[in-house]
Amino acid sequence: MKNAREVISTRLSCRSFDGQPLSTDDEAAVTSLLKQVNDPPFGSPVGMALVSATDTMIADISERAPYGVVHNPAQFIVGYVQKGRHSMEDFGYVLEQAVLHVEAHGISTCWLGGTFNRGGFAAVLGLDSDVLIPAVVPIGYPARRRTVSEGSIRFSVGARKRKRWSELFFEAEFWDDDDKPQSPPFALSPAAAADYEAMLEAVRLAPSTSNQQPWRIYRYSADSGPDMLHLFVSRTTGFDKAIKDVDMQRIDAGVAMAHFSVVADEIGFRGHWTERKPSWMPRGVDYVATWVED
Ligand SMILES: Cc1cc2nc3c(=O)[nH]c(=O)nc-3n(C[C@H](O)[C@H](O)[C@H](O)COP(=O)(O)O)c2cc1C
Repeated sequence: MKNAREVISTRLSCRSFDGQPLSTDDEAAVTSLLKQVNDPPFGSPVGMALVSATDTMIADISERAPYGVVHNPAQFIVGYVQKGRHSMEDFGYVLEQAVLHVEAHGISTCWLGGTFNRGGFAAVLGLDSDVLIPAVVPIGYPARRRTVSEGSIRFSVGARKRKRWSELFFEAEFWDDDDKPQSPPFALSPAAAADYEAMLEAVRLAPSTSNQQPWRIYRYSADSGPDMLHLFVSRTTGFDKAIKDVDMQRIDAGVAMAHFSVVADEIGFRGHWTERKPSWMPRGVDYVATWVED
């Protein structure tokens, strides 16, 4: 079985499945893997259920083109969460861990947060109306060839591409508090990131809605006191309004937090995500969370 860093560097969204149901062993394995995810940082009640893909569900996701054309998945991991202040980040954090576990087991996945019939899935699970289904993850065995529509989605969102380190990660130096940096923040290089390099690289490779990669991480270092890693999102216009009560780029932030945490765990780097909004904020970004070393 691949470790988390291997999964993160080789995983690709799969939208063309072969239509075979999961084997009994694989279905049992996925059911058990869904129970092995760590709790989200802000404690939102996130749930997941594995449901078989019915013809109606497949028709629902396939007809809501163009973004979201998925062919012949075996099952769906349906994630759900109660509305709340941090529910989007927590949701992304939990569901992405499930994605990484399932991929490590050799089963393919694709996040689907765009247009799908939320009501249909809520009815199958019998969820109350105040529970959100921000995204689902179709899973299964990949088809031998990608469909043409999958090829065009991957092309249109530039799915293989990732931003460079210098566009995502920064360093801001402070005297003793975080009121005002000593000088303008500068790009954080992998070498300068030192202990954080593997975790930041895992963030950089994360999947995100339309591959917008909205995450920005600033390391705040002070002359005294520990470094702080603050996570922000740089918004794509209109994305927060597209689906009622769902903020896809906050989910993307939660996905990035999961990548950071699983790699930190894997290499034995102790810390956790919490809320510690700095006084000084970089321009044009929303604050999400801060990584604090334990
Ligand atoms: C929160 C989230 C929502 C997504 N929603 C969709 C979607 O609705 N339809 C789709 O085809 N892909 C969706 N994706 C997959 C992204 O398009 C994909 O991760 C990105 O293009 C990078 O490609 P890769 O996953 O192959 O590395 C979503 C990804 C994330 C993290």
